[in-house]
Amino acid sequence: MQCVQLAASGLEHLALASGDAPEPGPGEVRVRMHSAAVNYRDYMICAGFYGGEKQYPLIPLSDGAGVVESAGSNAGQYRAGDRVMTVFWQDWESQPVRPGARTRSTGSEAPGALTEMGVFPESALLPVPDGMSMETAASLACAGVTAWTALHCGGPVGPDSTVLLLGTGGVSIFALQIAKSLGAAAVITSSSDEKLERARELGADETINYRKTPEWGPEAFKRSGGGVDVVVETGGMGTLGQSLQALGLNGSIGVLGALGGISAEMNAMALIGKCASIHGITVGAREDHAALSKHLVRHGIAAAIDRKFTLDQGPEAIRSIARGEHFGKLLVRIA
Ligand SMILES: NC(=O)c1ccc[n+]([C@@H]2O[C@H](COP(=O)([O-])OP(=O)(O)OC[C@H]3O[C@@H](n4cnc5c(N)ncnc54)[C@H](OP(=O)(O)O)[C@@H]3O)[C@@H](O)[C@H]2O)c1
Repeated sequence: MQCVQLAASGLEHLALASGDAPEPGPGEVRVRMHSAAVNYRDYMICAGFYGGEKQYPLIPLSDGAGVVESAGSNAGQYRAGDRVMTVFWQDWESQPVRPGARTRSTGSEAPGALTEMGVFPESALLPVPDGMSMETAASLACAGVTAWTALHCGGPVGPDSTVLLLGTGGVSIFALQIAKSLGAAAVITSSSDEKLERARELGADETINYRKTPEWGPEAFKRSGGGVDVVVETGGMGTLGQSLQALGLNGSIGVLGALGGISAEMNAMALIGKCASIHGITVGAREDHAALSKHLVRHGIAAAIDRKFTLDQGPEAIRSIARGEHFGKLLVRIA
């Protein structure tokens, strides 16, 4: 069987490899992978600037879906032929997070999905629901679940809510699709007018080019008629100041990214004056992933896949996410 392996820290150590199909041990399941999806985090892991214990050679990518082939002893949850998808945190069952729940993540501390044949603990898998394509299932574990938990960080989102999404990458576009299905209004930013046009086709109500409008925070405040309720903060500390300006009273910011930097000064008065909340997000629990899947099927939502690669193009797929040319997801079709 073939897989993509990271032999050591550094993108130059990423290559296609072949070997024997792994055998499932106790509590494990062998999965013939159908597709896997790339997240910015996978690039960070391969480039060597992401924390956590790694065992090389490492099979990268947290997100994937496939069909169960066989199960080891004490693994009774799945049968051969079942459609399954990987989960991000292999031991985080439900909210709130507790010590020890985030020690093993797929594609970092534990082997990932960029392989023809993967072996995963049962706790690292969820069934793919009827009505969901394998490509959508393969795109959920990181970006989809993060969009879901960040959107809900301040409570329920509904027709009275307005959300702000930064950029048009995997997390933001899932958040846009979910927010619209919940009836919320959505403001989205991008460096590209062409991508903003695509976001409009997916239902975005207001679009702002953050390059042409550097003060996009006050602009989002104005266009939302008095401030947004939730910001899915993919930019991190570099964009937090503008996000705070976009926020309405009692609004919430789900901080998850670091695209715009990891530290910055913050104006506490803006936070205090708006009675705002800032929440840190680390993807989410298995129960969040299951709730998201149910929601996507109920609303007929498919992942917005920008480009598909083959397994032997896997290293290029990982490298290409850093160029930021994509809209939504980059997928590797394996079978
Ligand atoms: N904490 C967590 O749980 C968690 C989970 C998932 C992801 N993340 C992090 O969240 C971020 C986004 O992840 P992703 O998978 O969606 O990445 P992605 O698919 O690579 O999306 C990146 C997009 O973000 C936009 N962007 C880049 N720099 C920006 C900036 N300074 N301000 C606003 N937008 C900017 C660009 O969109 P345009 O081309 O439209 O400008 C870019 O294409 C990454 O930092 C990732 O590591 C964290």
